[in-house]
Amino acid sequence: MKTKEQLLILFENNKGCYFSGEEIAEALSVSRTAVWKAVKTLRDDGYRIDAVPNRGYRLAEDSDILSAQGICRYLAPDCAMIRPEIFPVLDSTNRKVREQAAAGEPEGYTAIALQQTAGRGRRGHHFHSPAGTGIYMSLLLRPADLSAQDASRLTTTAAVAACEAIEDVSGKEALIKWVNDIFVNGKKAAGILTEASVSVENGLLEYAVLGIGINALPPEDGFPDDIRDIAGAVFDGPVSDGKNRLAAEFLNRFMSYYHAPQDAVLYSRYRERCFVIGRTVQVFSANGSRTAKVLDLGDDFRLIVEYENGEKEALISGELSVKI
Ligand code: BTN
Repeated sequence: MKTKEQLLILFENNKGCYFSGEEIAEALSVSRTAVWKAVKTLRDDGYRIDAVPNRGYRLAEDSDILSAQGICRYLAPDCAMIRPEIFPVLDSTNRKVREQAAAGEPEGYTAIALQQTAGRGRRGHHFHSPAGTGIYMSLLLRPADLSAQDASRLTTTAAVAACEAIEDVSGKEALIKWVNDIFVNGKKAAGILTEASVSVENGLLEYAVLGIGINALPPEDGFPDDIRDIAGAVFDGPVSDGKNRLAAEFLNRFMSYYHAPQDAVLYSRYRERCFVIGRTVQVFSANGSRTAKVLDLGDDFRLIVEYENGEKEALISGELSVKI
């Protein structure tokens, strides 16, 4: 790991604390010159680093940079088992957590990246994950006695938790495009990807990786052309500790549902935010796409649609394109 990345982790894990150049050099086993260069590079990258004579350097307290300590500050008791680890860059936090899960890591391990180089979306899509503006987070779960069929419940729970967290922290309404897209102001601001390992012996989940990507802020150079019209962000501009609060609030909400499932409450909270109900949509499947009207959300979270020929179907999961 580069000195800059090590220094960022030291700062993030001790937000607001001063470190002298000598302390940093010792902690990272590098020279004072290397420390100075790393501070300069972080500043060039946009981090606000205060330097005070006789005290040293610190990450500005009002900065909005994800950190393990910053997130833990806002976590509720339901999240006692959450162990966040921050990475400046990862290919994919879901991949990282799957690797940890396969190596026997207990439930609660949470990988958070400031940037992803190969963020994964559903159905093999790429999830745009630029540095500094998003929350790219994956949580390792080891639910007892959860069958593969019921695993989609983790995604629907996460969708409600994400909406509630966004509404709580930003004050903006958040809606769900079935099954896993979160919309703010008519644009997709977050997506959820749950991946699982299933035991062939009993069909139960060995573990699940719940990944969520939230566009907290618009990327500095805008969204790429292919998603410019559909992608949006939760905040319009920097908010002090906005990303840490958003990440923690998502975990608080999700873990509270996870520990004490309330199926009827979750269903009604999901349904009231599910904005595709009553709309005409395109339903994509392996056989192509068909136009349908969304009639309702079944109590098993299936989307009940009616095709143009009158045929009805209860969709388990799939990809919808909403025709407005
Ligand atoms: C989607 O929109 O289809 C789902 C996007 C999920 C993206 C998140 S970002 C954190 C985690 N790591 C990944 O590679 N993907 C998920």
